[in-house]
Amino acid sequence: MEANMERLQKIIAEAGITSRRKAEKLIVEGRVAVNGRTVTAVGSKADPARDKICVDGRPLTRNPRRVTVLLNKPDGYISTVSDPQHRPTVLSLLRGVKERLYPVGRLDYHSTGLLLLTNDGELAHFLMSPSSGIPRTYHVKLPGNPKPEDLRKLENGIVLDGRPTAPCSIRPLTGRGKPWYEITLVEGRYHQVRRMFERIGQPVLKLKRVRIAFLTERGLPPGGFRLLPLKEVERLKRWNPAIERSSDENRNAKIA
Ligand code: URA
Repeated sequence: MEANMERLQKIIAEAGITSRRKAEKLIVEGRVAVNGRTVTAVGSKADPARDKICVDGRPLTRNPRRVTVLLNKPDGYISTVSDPQHRPTVLSLLRGVKERLYPVGRLDYHSTGLLLLTNDGELAHFLMSPSSGIPRTYHVKLPGNPKPEDLRKLENGIVLDGRPTAPCSIRPLTGRGKPWYEITLVEGRYHQVRRMFERIGQPVLKLKRVRIAFLTERGLPPGGFRLLPLKEVERLKRWNPAIERSSDENRNAKIA
């Protein structure tokens, strides 16, 4: 049989352990072994059919059942697989799910709302790549009403970590006590929403993710989750902002 060499981070991601980016970190940290030998070079390759690949001493399962879950994260849960401070993780909420899933991106400890968890490396890779253009919508509670020119500044993009943020949209939400705003981003940088509002002197008091692409929290109480059917997973993987926008417009036109 001819060897079918693939990059280790791809093999690990496809086995559902973690995303490709995090798999690279596992390799660098010396937690990956191929045929009993620790490998620390990120470009290393192996043959998934013939080599014995272990992460933290546990052999990879080949072709696990692909599972993707949509969770409505409550406040006070950390969205990593483990926490050195022993705070509860979002994984502890997935009762009855036997597959090893990992969160796609993060919600801060005090943020609430929608979080996807999966063992589908292809889906995670797509969702986390900046070019996927998947919109994520957040509701934020602010201490006061920002000036319109400050909101325009955020919408047009500000420099974070030396790079401009992509254009986004922000609108006020009416009918609540303190000012609440809705912001839709097509990228997910570290603490991005909090850092953006901080920049205009409006530290976020509450933050909830209410939409990821076409997924909403409908029917999901805080702490609740549901398995995504294949149809929804495929729709995410084929996400095309232009097509989705025009189908939304058609739907709205029918309702009107
Ligand atoms: N942006 C943030 O700042 N925090 C989150 O939890 C999500 C997006």
